[in-house]
This record gives sequence, C-alpha cells and structure tokens, in this order.
Amino acid sequence: MSIIESNLDEKRSFSPREDHTKDANFTKKDLLRLTKQFKNNRNKTWSDLAKSNILWDKSFNDVISGKAPFYKWFSDGKLNVSKNCVDRHISKNKSAIIHISENNKRKVLSYSDLYIYINKFSYALRKLGLTSGDRVIIYMPTIPESIVAMLSCARLGLIHSVVFAGFSSIALRDRIIDCKAKAIITVDAYMRSGKIINSKEIVDDAIKVDCEFVDNVIVYENHDALSSKKTKDVLWSEILPREEKYIDPVSMSSDELLFILYTSGSTGKPKGIMHTSGGYLLNCIITNKWVFDLKDQDIFWCTADIGWITGHSYVVYGPLACGATILIYDGAPLYPHSNRFWEIIQENNVSIFYTAPTALRTLMKVGENDPSNYNLESLRILGTVGEPINPKAWMWYFETVGKSLCPIVDTWWQTETGANMIAPIPSINSLIPGTCTKPLPGIDVAIVDINGEELRDPNQGGDLVIRQPWPSMLAGIWGDKDRYVETYWSKYSSKYYVTGDTARYDEDGNIWIMGRSDDVVNVSGHRLGTMEIESALVSHRLVAEAAVVSYKHEIKGEAIQAFISLKQSSKNKSELADDLRQWVSLKIGSIAKPERISFSDSLPKTRSGKIMRRLLRNLARGEDITSDTSTLENESIIEQLKKIV
Ligand code: WT7
Repeated sequence: MSIIESNLDEKRSFSPREDHTKDANFTKKDLLRLTKQFKNNRNKTWSDLAKSNILWDKSFNDVISGKAPFYKWFSDGKLNVSKNCVDRHISKNKSAIIHISENNKRKVLSYSDLYIYINKFSYALRKLGLTSGDRVIIYMPTIPESIVAMLSCARLGLIHSVVFAGFSSIALRDRIIDCKAKAIITVDAYMRSGKIINSKEIVDDAIKVDCEFVDNVIVYENHDALSSKKTKDVLWSEILPREEKYIDPVSMSSDELLFILYTSGSTGKPKGIMHTSGGYLLNCIITNKWVFDLKDQDIFWCTADIGWITGHSYVVYGPLACGATILIYDGAPLYPHSNRFWEIIQENNVSIFYTAPTALRTLMKVGENDPSNYNLESLRILGTVGEPINPKAWMWYFETVGKSLCPIVDTWWQTETGANMIAPIPSINSLIPGTCTKPLPGIDVAIVDINGEELRDPNQGGDLVIRQPWPSMLAGIWGDKDRYVETYWSKYSSKYYVTGDTARYDEDGNIWIMGRSDDVVNVSGHRLGTMEIESALVSHRLVAEAAVVSYKHEIKGEAIQAFISLKQSSKNKSELADDLRQWVSLKIGSIAKPERISFSDSLPKTRSGKIMRRLLRNLARGEDITSDTSTLENESIIEQLKKIV
C-alpha cells in the first residue's frame, strides 16, 4: 500500500452550541493548557492526571518504565480498581446500576447495594480458594451479577476474562484453555428475542474434555433453568453468604493484570489482549469525563455487551470509577417491539446514549420516524463506536434522535487501546458526519506511508499509527510475547504502535477512518478475522478450500462472503450453504456466519499456490478486477466465479 485513494466529500459541519460549552467538564481552555503541558513534559502531565483521577493506596514515582514495547505505567504505585469504582462512591448515596431486563423488569442498585453485593461475592470467591493472579472466565449476559463478578475479581486481584455470551462452546473452550481458567462464572440461561439461551449447557460442552484445571463452575440462577448439577458446579445462591461480609480490596501493583479480553486478529486463534490496572483505569476515567462530559446527575446508557471492550470501559470501569449512574439492558434491541430503545430512554431519562452504527442503521430502517413518538428530551450527548458511521445514519441520529441539540461523539479506539483515542470533545470540536475528528490530549496519532513517513496533507490515506505509549495501552498478548511485537510493532521497526486501520486527514485536520489494512473484517461493529472463519469452514468434512472476504452491507457495514471449493460435488447447494452457516456458528458464534456463500470448482490461485483474495474481494464487491490475472494458475476459474457471484 502506498497512498490509498480517498474521495469522500462531506461538507456539513456543526459547531458546539452554548449549552455544550457552558458547564462542560473539559473546555477549550483546558485543552490548550493540557496540550501545552503534554508538549513540555509528557510524563509529568500523565502523572498529574493519574494522581488527580485515581485513588491510590500507594502513590508512584515511575510514570513509565519497562523495555519498549513492553511498557509499564505507574508501576511502583498500588491501587484496587474495584475500590476506585465502588468503595469511594458509597457516601454519595446514589444509584449505580439501573437494570432493565428483556421482559421489562426494572431493578436499581445503589452504590451501597453494589458495595455489599461485591463484598459478599468476593467472600464467596475467596472461600472457593481463588487467589490473586488466578484467571476467571465470565460467560454471562449484561446483568448486575456479571458486573458484580467483574468487580469482585478486581477486588481480589483475580484476572477476569469476559467471553461474549453469544460465542459458541468451541470458541469459549479455546479461551478457557488459552488462559487456563480456574473458575467459570455463568448463568443457567437467559432470554434473547424471547428465546431461552442455555449458557450452562454451552459451558458444560466447552469443558467436557481437557479442562481438568477448571475447579469450579459458578452458576447464577438467572432463569430457573438448571436441571441438574455437575460435580464442579456451585450455585451462586449457595456460596453467597447470607450475612454481610467485608473483604479488604487487594492492593495491586498498577501494572498487574486487571483482565484479558480476546479479540480476533488477521491470523490464527484469537488474541488474549491484556490490560493492567492503573493505566487502563486512567484513560477510562478521563475519556468518560472529557468525551462524554459525564457528570454526577447523568444516566449513561452504553448499549454494548460486557463481552466487548466497550462494555468494559464505558459500561463498567469508566463510568463507575467516575461515580456515575449506568443503565444496562439485557435484551435484544428490537424485542418485543422496535421502539424498545426509545422507550427505555424515555422511561429512564437517559442523558448519555452510546451505541454502534449498525444498531442505528437497523433502527432507522425499521422506523425512521419512531423516535419522534417518544420524549427523548433527557438526551444531551450521543455517541457511536465500532465502525465508520455513514453520513446518512449520522444525520438521522443527530436530527431525529437528538433533535439537532445533542453533539455526536464518534469515538475511534480498539480493544487494544483500552479507551477512546480519537474523538470529539463536545464543547470544543466542530462535528462533521463521518469523522471521529481529532486525537485526544496526550494521544500521539499519525498517518504514515509505507516507509513510515508522516502524511500530513489532506486526503492521503495511509496507516494509522500511535507514536508514543499511552496509559491504557495493552500490556501484551496473553502467553505470546512474540505475537504482540509482531502484530503491533514490527511493521515500522518498533517505532510505532500499528493500529491495523488506514485513515486520512481532511482540510481541517480531522481524521477519517478508511478501513482495515489487514485481513480483519468488521461486521456490525464486531471484529472478525477472515482466517478464523476460513479455518472453521475448511474443518467441515465436505470443504476443500475456503476464502473469506467482505463486501459493503447496508445495515452491518460489512458482511462476509465465503468462496468455497468442495471435496466432492454436492447436489443441494443451498442446503449445504445453510449447513456451513450452522457449522461456523457452532465453531465461532452466529456473528461470524457468512451472509453469502459461493461454490466453485476451485479458487483462484497464484502459481505459488496462494489464494488471490484481492481478486475475490473485487468480485464480492462488484468491482473491476484490478489484479494481474495472468499470474493465475487457473485463469479460467474467473469466468466461472463471475457467473456465480
Ligand atoms: C476496530 C476495533 C472500540 C470498541 C469497539 C470495537 C473499528 C472502532 C471506530 C470508529 C471507524 C472504528 C476500527 C478499529 N472502529 N471505532 N469510531 N470509526 N472505525 O473494538 O473489536 O477492538 O475493533 O473497530 O477498525 O480498529 P474492536
């Protein structure tokens, strides 16, 4: 890739209104001051921010240490993240969590309720013999108990790894084995779109063989669906003490692990992204305050599931560390009717709403004027994340949902970055539909060409990199140092953190994300490795070869097309395609199911035997074929493929 062409041309711009600047947590003056401080003394500025935003058990002297790229933040400091998120707010006497279930039951937990609950559950976990550094898998929907589980792990220094409850038993098993989890916390079952999902059965399946290191499966009885107990099973209600208990939060070194979260890469199995305590918490807190302008009286609804990084940083750790009130909903967006989101906002006076472009496009499609039937006046800030938002969806969000009064913060970041990196600050940035605007203070982003030279001029696409380490950066990949260096640092000889995204500037210095530069696709805001899906497909007994590419999709942003050649011919292709979708769903989860499947006699390959994915991408996207096809070993296959896609 040299310079990537870019021709987006969006001219609408919305400046901050007076009510966005008045009483804002972070103003233009703050920005100027902080930018200057970062320029003069970067470490001191991070140090001041860490001291003023985090409650330390023991303060630190070392701001950043370690051998590049294995940086450590505030490493001689000690803290407990759970104490930061809960203990320090109990005197506020306010709601911490408002939980709405799919069948519309509403439950509110105050900070004191949460504190008592976490202490009891921490007591139970400790009684099971779990100690600092042990790994615990959390396989649960987004309910108060899963948050209690996360914060109890954090209280005891246990490293949690939340696995999205929609992942299959095989995907779950890979993660359990990779981190050698000592315990798994799950639910008996939960409801999604009116259907029962039996999580416990999926866990049983996942640990059937080779998981002797798992001592306990803790089951929260969420749905009265547990029929029998296995030897490793313990019930949440049995181990939770009846009377109140107090468990001292374990003082952790700032660079000790808080959690592992698995995410897809361009090759091989998912990567266990490691996040530590102090640095991670700092960027979570400041971005909640700056980007979302989070205040005491706000009700913050981030619709992300706790199984993703957004659920970690903008449902649990960030907002709670700020002492905010969060709303969580553990149902499907369109169930039992398509106005569920608007109804929840209206009934609960949600003031900050953070969701994904896919959700917005879906809602726009099912009821473009629906938000007008609800009183959404409580809203003051809207956010989006996960994938580029198309200007049409942006304008709808802005005008129909926000009544042109609420700034939209389009936040760019990744599982690896821990928190927002590029995002507007509502009182400062002018908004243009489709751009995540500018890097936040302290975040040193650049767009570079193939030689690592900075591309400063507008409309030159290149690799998006981060030049200086930042506190919430990943600490590495669990169990694989080499892969960490190789994936994120090697492309520009360890000079920059490589995001894997391509981007460009516009004339005003705003950053426009253009897409991925690697074999990662982004379906409905979820990152999937094409190699992962390909290896799932080729493990099917009838599949000889598989190549997976993405194409533009109206709702999902990107969708998957799989090109398949079979070991033996099969009569009913549409039945087989359904079987293969089921197969992928079983191996990974239903989010990875290919939308389109095309069968051909073979796949286009170079003479050295490499599948020409670029050519398949052109075909799937209905583009002209740009690659030189004369190097193909089997040129005639193109004509066949053209007929079937
Ligand atoms: C990838 C990270 C960050 C939480 C959700 C996804 C894409 C993320 C944006 C945005 C354009 C975006 C990037 C990034 N992405 N936010 N505002 N505009 N693209 O986390 O699974 O780690 O995926 O999502 O491609 O690299 P993730």
